[in-house]
Amino acid sequence: MSFTSRLLKWYSENKRDLPWRESADPYKIWLSEIILQQTRIVQGLGYYHRFLDKYPDIQALANASEDDVLSVWQGLGYYSRARNLHHTAKEIVKQYNGKFPEDYKDLLKLKGIGPYTAAAIASIAFNLPHATVDGNVTRVLARYFGITDPVNETHIKNQINSAANELMDLQRPGMFNQAMMDLGATICKPGKPLCNFCPVNKDCIARISGIEESIPVKTSKIVQRERFFHFFLLHTQANHERMFLIEKREQNDIWKNLHQLPLIETPDNDLAENLLIQHPVLSLLIRDNIPVTPGGYVRHFEHILTHQRLQAFFYNIHLPSEYYPNFDGTYKWVTFDEFSKLGKPVLISKYMEVFRDFFENQ
Ligand code: ADE
Repeated sequence: MSFTSRLLKWYSENKRDLPWRESADPYKIWLSEIILQQTRIVQGLGYYHRFLDKYPDIQALANASEDDVLSVWQGLGYYSRARNLHHTAKEIVKQYNGKFPEDYKDLLKLKGIGPYTAAAIASIAFNLPHATVDGNVTRVLARYFGITDPVNETHIKNQINSAANELMDLQRPGMFNQAMMDLGATICKPGKPLCNFCPVNKDCIARISGIEESIPVKTSKIVQRERFFHFFLLHTQANHERMFLIEKREQNDIWKNLHQLPLIETPDNDLAENLLIQHPVLSLLIRDNIPVTPGGYVRHFEHILTHQRLQAFFYNIHLPSEYYPNFDGTYKWVTFDEFSKLGKPVLISKYMEVFRDFFENQ
């Protein structure tokens, strides 16, 4: 038996008893799909019934006020779903005389109806062969075909979509789609799937290879924050040695308790003049008529951390000999050797080497 016939046989014996399955009314199918977009079935059921009690057909929904529709939706969240339902109900009444368009592309044009919902309405209400591919269906197919590539990448998504459409039962598209949803939700679950109860376990590549619990995989889309750091290397000749000023990072942030150069962090590339004046160290230099950014920065490094991308700019300030005023406890004057023994971020070590080379070859 093929995948599809095993699946449909299993569905006929095991399908979940859900109220919208008693009808092929596109209005009810649409409503159920919109509710289930961001809501679990158990939570959505009460809303589905209350909504239909209040608005039994599309005409009733179109005639309602938006405030009323939103009040029935209260507690479900993602209120744009309710606003779009109301808007589209009015649109269907006006544009299509209250009858849903029986065409996938026309359904897609309606507000709040994307590829998944259009495929669900087209297949369940109108028997049109469009596969619904959501997270559940993706998991079933990724496991069945043993797809170990990340399923959130476009070409893999397209591959899974094509596979679903190829497996589709052309006589019973709505039944096929809902069987796939049920298999994903009740048997081929995330985490530990119940493979012993699965109608297609004999041909499932993930199951055969024993990798069903590690499929599907996704590439993590780590959100990286970009930060702009301006570091000032203040150096002077004191007691026949080169000294420079360092700062200990004490705030709850990256590099806590490590040592760095005096820093100004800015929201973008731009280092505004007024920030220099506000800085406890640089303001003193400015007061003493020492230029703090002559010629701008001398180096720029991009430094990548897991969640942050740092743009680091380094400025050199050559101070007059024996000029090393005291600052509060977080700042300290040190020699190269002293600094080499202190914990510091790689980025700072990297720049110190550049500076040392530059300085010694002067
Ligand atoms: N999730 C979204 N649509 C569904 C449907 N028609 N049946 C079961 N689960 C679903």
